[in-house]
Order: sequence, then C-alpha cells, then structure tokens
Amino acid sequence: MQQPKRYLVTSALPYANGLKHVGHLAGAYIPADIYVRYLRAQKREVVFVCGSDEHGTAIPIQATKEGTTPRAIIDKYHEAMKQDFEDLGMSFDIYHRTSEPLHHETAQEFFRYLHERGELEIKETEQYFDEAAKTFLADRYIKGTCPNCGSDRAFGDQCESCGRTLSPDELINPVSTLSGQPPVKKKTSHWYLPLGKHENFLRKWILEQHKDDWRPTVVGQCKSWIEGGLQSRAVTRDLDWGIKVPLKEAEGKVLYVWFDAPIGYISATRQWAIENNRDWKPYWYDQDTKLVHFIGKDNIVFHCIIFPLMLKLHGNILPENVPANEFLNLEGDKMSTSRNWKLDMRDYINDFVKQENGGAQCVDMLRYYLTQIAPETKDSEFMWKGFQDAVNSELVSIFGNFVNRSWVLLHKLCGGKVPRLHEDILDENDKNLAEEIRNTKNRVESLLEEYKFREALFEVIDLARKGNQYMQKKEPWIVAKSLAENPEGQKKIDNCMHCCLQLTANLAILINPFLPHTAAKMLYMMKVVDKMLDWENAGKLKLLSVGYSMREPQLLFRKIEDSEISAQIEKLNNGLTKVEEQTQTAPTPAPAEKPVKPEIVFEDFAKIDLKVGTIIAAEKVEKADKLLKLTVDLGFEIRTIVSGIALHYSPEEITGRQVTVVTNLAPRKMRGIESNGMILMAEDKAGKLHFLRPPTDIDPGSNVS
Ligand code: 2FM
Ligand code: ZN
Repeated sequence: MQQPKRYLVTSALPYANGLKHVGHLAGAYIPADIYVRYLRAQKREVVFVCGSDEHGTAIPIQATKEGTTPRAIIDKYHEAMKQDFEDLGMSFDIYHRTSEPLHHETAQEFFRYLHERGELEIKETEQYFDEAAKTFLADRYIKGTCPNCGSDRAFGDQCESCGRTLSPDELINPVSTLSGQPPVKKKTSHWYLPLGKHENFLRKWILEQHKDDWRPTVVGQCKSWIEGGLQSRAVTRDLDWGIKVPLKEAEGKVLYVWFDAPIGYISATRQWAIENNRDWKPYWYDQDTKLVHFIGKDNIVFHCIIFPLMLKLHGNILPENVPANEFLNLEGDKMSTSRNWKLDMRDYINDFVKQENGGAQCVDMLRYYLTQIAPETKDSEFMWKGFQDAVNSELVSIFGNFVNRSWVLLHKLCGGKVPRLHEDILDENDKNLAEEIRNTKNRVESLLEEYKFREALFEVIDLARKGNQYMQKKEPWIVAKSLAENPEGQKKIDNCMHCCLQLTANLAILINPFLPHTAAKMLYMMKVVDKMLDWENAGKLKLLSVGYSMREPQLLFRKIEDSEISAQIEKLNNGLTKVEEQTQTAPTPAPAEKPVKPEIVFEDFAKIDLKVGTIIAAEKVEKADKLLKLTVDLGFEIRTIVSGIALHYSPEEITGRQVTVVTNLAPRKMRGIESNGMILMAEDKAGKLHFLRPPTDIDPGSNVS
C-alpha cells in the first residue's frame, strides 16, 4: 500500500471537569501513543494532537459542585490532566485547550462557513426554561422521575439509576436543578446539522468504503445509527458557558460542545504549526494526509458521522480510520466516577510511579498491562491480580529475565564485549532464532498498521520467550564449565551471546512504541544512541558491533508484591463503601439556613411505600467494613437489603429487630449483592444511627404512613 505523505493522529479531547481514569487511558491515549511512536520510528511525518475539552454543561456543573467558577475548573483540570498524561509517557506534539482564543476563532469560522453556504437549518422549538433563574435549561439541569424505572435520580439526558438515555420531555415531574422549580416551555431557535440530507454520502462512505478496514464494532454502531433514521442535530445551545455563536441574531447562544470539541483537533494543529513554524493547512486539506482518530466507543457517532459530515461540508479531508475501543471495566464492575469505582491515572502515578521503587518502569508496567488487555474488540477487565501476573510472569520473568540473563552471562563469559560470530559453527537454533527475529518484525509491523496493538505486543513478548528457549537449549553456562578440557567451547559461547545481544537490540526496537522507557534503558545498557531504534533496523542481525563493550546489567522491571495488590483492592472497596454509605444513610445536605428539603406535594410523598419489617438474619459483607447484608421479613415476602450500618450495629444485636423499610425503591447492586429496599435510620448529632421502629413489635408488613 502506498504511504501517505503525512499523518495526523488525534486522541479524544477529555473534558476538563475531573481527573481521568485508566479506562480513558486504555481507550483513546495509549493506543494512539503506540501508533505515533511507531510512525515516528518509521520516520514518517506525523503530528499527534490532543487537548482539553473545556465547554459543555459538564464544566459549570462541576463548578457548582466544587463551589467555584467554570474558569477555575478548566484551569485546574487542564493542568492536572496535562501533567498526568505527561507522567504516563503520552507523547503529544501539542496538548491544547478549547478555551484558547485561537480555538474560539477556528470554531466560529467553521460555523460561519456552514451557515453562509446554507448547510445548516434553523428551527424554532419549545424548550424548558427556568423562570426564576431566567435561563433555558440544558438537559443535564433538569431532574425528574424516570419514566422507565421510576427513580427520582433521572436527568434530562439520562437516568442515573437505570442508565436509560432520556430527553427532557420524557421526565415525569421535571424540576430545574438551578431553582428547584418546575420549568416552563418557551420558544427558542437553533441551528441544526441536517444529517438526514446526507444519508447517501454517509452510507456509501462508511458502510461501503470502510466496511472492511474499520473495526466491526465501529461499523456496527454507525450502521445502527444510519438505519435508525438520521435526525437533524442542533449545533447551538442556550447556555452561558461556551463559544458564542458568531451571528447577530444569535444573542445569548453558544455552539454545542460536540460541535466545537472536534474542531479542537484543527485548532490544536494550528497552534502546533505556529509553535513550530509550519503550515497547518495540508494536515486538514491535502488528500495525502492520513487522519486517524483514537477514541472510546461512546464517541463513535460524533467521530464517524457528525464530525466527518462537518468536515466534508467545510471542504476538509475525512478520517481514514477511527479505531474506537470498547470499555474497560474494573474488578468485574463498570468504572464509575459517581460510585468511586475507578482507578484514576493520578492514583496510579502516586501509588506506583512516584514511590521509591517506582519511576519509569512503573509507567511501562501500566502501559504494558493496559495494552495487553486493551478492549479492542469487546469490553475487557482491569484486575489488580491480572496486573500483577502480567508484570511478574511476563515482563519480569520473560522479557526482563531474557535481557538480564544475557547481560549477566555476557559479562561473566565474554568480558562484557560483543563476541564475534563464528559462521562455521552456526547451528539450527541460531538460524531459527534469526528467522524468528525477521518474522516477528514483519508481523508486528502489519499488526500495528492494522491497529491490533494487543496482538502486536504479544508478538514482541513471544520473541523474548523464544530468546529464553534459545538460551536454555544452548546452555552457555554449562559449556563454560568444561572450557579447560574443550577450549573450542568458547566459540559456542560466543555465538550464543552474540545472537542474544542482537536479539536484545531487536527487542528494544520492537518494544519501543509500547514501552519507551524500557527501550531507553536498554539503549543505555547497550551504550548506543537513539537512532538505533529506527524501525528500519528491526529484523537486522548486526546492530551491535563485535568488540563493543556493554554496560553492567540493570533490572528492567521490579516485581509487584502481593501486599501492593491487596492494598489497592482495599482502597477500591473503601472508596466504594464511602459513596454507598453516603447515598444509603446520610441525609441529603440541606441549605444551611433552613434544614428542610424543598416542599413537596402529598402525591410525591404517597409514592413512597413504607412498611414495617423484621430483620430475621444479618451478616457482614465481605471486604466492606461498613455494610451489613440483612434478610428482612415483610410479611408478604422476605427481602435482601444491604445497609451501611455495620459500624453502628453488629449482626447479632439487630437480628429479630423491627425496622421501617422503603419497599419500592429500585433495586441496587452493592458489592455484587442486590439490595431491594432501604432501612430508615435517624442520625443523632454525634453521628450515631438509630432505627425507626414501632415501640412494640407489630405484624411485619404493616404500612407506615
Ligand atoms: O467524551 C468526552 O470526554 C469528550 N470530551 C470527547 C471529545 S472528543 C473531541 F471531539 F474533541
Ligand atoms: Zn431509570
């Protein structure tokens, strides 16, 4: 296949509303970084852009949560995310931000261009308006009851309990989260991108042209969108926070965050060009540029349908590929910020990279494991035990072990210098190894070109495994024992060590895109310059010259101890328990001056079903200090309820006790146990929890009202 003249690689711009977790890292950043490092080693012209996504409702919502301004939020998280990416070895050519004037200008020009050419529709609709706050309400600012599961934790875009995607009109009893008042409907005009009008183009471009070279999961999602009927999408919003719509008649409106964010790739390229005295235009206009977007699966529709259409209408090039990843779960459960079930990049950096025995090797250990489990074809699992196994049994025992053994033996048996190769006594093992080196290079290369990072990494480790097997067959340490009787044996030792060294040089080149810090350490041990890592050197067998002396061995990786793993699992469970407890037992904080929640009508109260129940069994929940699993008799049935009261009551003291139960609360899973209800508790000033119960026992199942 002919090489494109240049590459532009993008990683999804993360929202600057909080720290990002390793699921994000595995989805959109590490694969892109591997790809780019590989392209650079191939000496291809490549620019790798990323940056913070600083608009949208996520930002003011976080500002309200943290009691500060949107500006303070983006400044804080932009810096934090940039630092975390840097600490984990992401090699962006630029990490830009969408709050920069250059981005505002670029996005406004883009909008104006489409508007002036009549590519956008203007429609008047009725939307929710908060009369007290005098503002239209973004979907996320409207709360209500879910029409699907009845939970009151539903927002205008999604229900937090059952996960169903909602529109504000579907909410039962909607209220504004700004004023607590029910919103009214008010007319407003917006600009829409008419997707339906371009269905033929989208069908052809995705479902025909790219049906074989894009991942099946990506094509599948696009297909279901297209088949489901393409609706026009509003690209403007009535909001304060965002990029002003550059039209006089659009006072008070901003560009929709998903309109401006992908244009962030363009403004980042422009900024990079300014800083490097280059021309940005070929990267977005010249057909000889290969544009590749790395994203997570929740961003597919925006990068495969909406943004490409915008690019086409604006006269830009289209992406060649969008290798989206599925999701990464953690210890058997979905990663979630609200439930605190996650591993933030920052936590890993603090707990491993910044520790005394940490550093660059710990960065590479995480890069290794996240690539080994990359959710390329389906969701996958981050398991702490799996991380430990990958490091100890593969990085340490296979890769690190091969390099270390080679170095130790080289110093012991060959004086630390590259020995010569005695062609006359080359045997099958030597020849096979040379063949394996060449084949692995070819396989890794084609896998990387096809975005199969997991398999490519496996090939590299497998080559190191073959190195160990080779050494085991040659046993130079045994040959060394009989050198006095058989001095010719030195030739055998030389050949073995020579081949092991050339293999090590190849391993450094092949591992470099994945584990750059490890490759750098290997270069140091070999006393060679970076240039050796050029991809064209892979597969070659004369990379290290005869007679050249090597440095002393250094361990490439350390082992991960059991105690480190159990500490992480405990930390995860404790974090979750804290959040569960807050939602289960702590009363919602009320405004300081009046400790009462907003007024409700009787019908609201009547929706809650309260009954007296008897606890017939209670036990501690494993690995959760604060939770008890209760079996409660409600007269008409027996239920399991998980309650955050373990620090206040022992299972023995509450068995047989009567309690008040909310019986019609949607079920929730806690620590793998489904909880079907909630026990009402009163909290005294000292923080002690007390049961609410009849003064003397009555029939279980009696109504409370
Ligand atoms: O899902 C997200 O985190 C978005 N901020 C991704 C934006 S990608 C691009 F369009 F900027
Ligand atoms: Zn719901």
